Amino acid sequence: MSITILGIESSCDDTSAAIVSDCVLLSNVIASQRVHEAYGGVVPELASRAHQQNIVPVVSEAIRQAGISRADINAIAFTRGPGLPGSLHVGTSFAKGLALALNVPLVDVNHLHGHVLAHFIKETATDVVPSFPFLCLLISGGNSQIIKVNAPNDMEIIGHTIDDAAGEAFDKCAKVMGLPYPGGPIIDSMAQLGDPNRFKFAKPHIPGYNYSFSGLKTSFLYTLRDELKINPNFIEDNKNDLAASLQKTIIDILMDKFAHAIKDTGIKTIAIGGGVSANSGVRAAVEDYARRHRLSAFIPKRTFTTDNAAMIAVAGHYRFLDHQFCDITAPPFARVTI
Ligand code: KG4
Repeated sequence: MSITILGIESSCDDTSAAIVSDCVLLSNVIASQRVHEAYGGVVPELASRAHQQNIVPVVSEAIRQAGISRADINAIAFTRGPGLPGSLHVGTSFAKGLALALNVPLVDVNHLHGHVLAHFIKETATDVVPSFPFLCLLISGGNSQIIKVNAPNDMEIIGHTIDDAAGEAFDKCAKVMGLPYPGGPIIDSMAQLGDPNRFKFAKPHIPGYNYSFSGLKTSFLYTLRDELKINPNFIEDNKNDLAASLQKTIIDILMDKFAHAIKDTGIKTIAIGGGVSANSGVRAAVEDYARRHRLSAFIPKRTFTTDNAAMIAVAGHYRFLDHQFCDITAPPFARVTI
């Protein structure tokens, strides 16, 4: 018998619901919230209100598009954290209510595990998935981690950021250039037109596999401050070169630690995940590294790099198999507890 899971994701500013049957994707509906655009970042209170408006139609649409009935759902998986507390409460409360109504088990999913297990979303039953163990570079707006994935429910963080995340480095530097939020995708497209070797920004020297991006951010800011004193149009005149040089520095920092971890562990399968894994330079760098070192690399489809319920449903599928169910009284958690 196949296992059909409804996944619900509401950790930040996307309300999403998906249905998977034995990890094969039947539907993945995402309502992105435009309300934050005017504020230059996600406004938590507005996010939770928008989730409340979106959640019922999004879940109904996911069930409709999957061509199943509610009675076919074997379990409900939801993002329990980390994320914005108010947003998480909406998805958590809805998942609990529906699980009670349908009398099916509830499975809580760590959002970051979801990003890692996005590689197990199958669009056809024959899709190839990573073999275990694999090393995943998880890079998003809130996290930068190197994770050793031993099994779907057995992950070890071997490196993490000690300050800003890679996505924050993109977004904060984009903000000082006067670009709208989120700056990452805009920097990515501007970088295609610029010279990545034109400017040099600071790279951290910290031991182990940990990341740091705050020094880069400061050196980017100081470069702009100094150059603007000489030429008030400096940013406009050099925006593509600034974007390309910034992107190259972020990629160099990411790849340096990831390459060390790959060499030291001897693991031959690598993957990337999270919002920043949509970056064309990051994708090319990982593919190139894998080709040169004869590794197999898993690069997610761009739809599965951002927050989506398909990855939550798949992570829920594996927790369901391991009988890792969640109590109806379990509260959401806002911070990382992998
Ligand atoms: O995974 P995600 O939605 O965030 C968290 O769950 O924390 O990723 C959002 C982050 C933002 O920082 C955004 O700027 C970045 O991913 N991002 C990108 C690209 N697309 C999204 N960064 C660089 N290049 C991109 N193409």
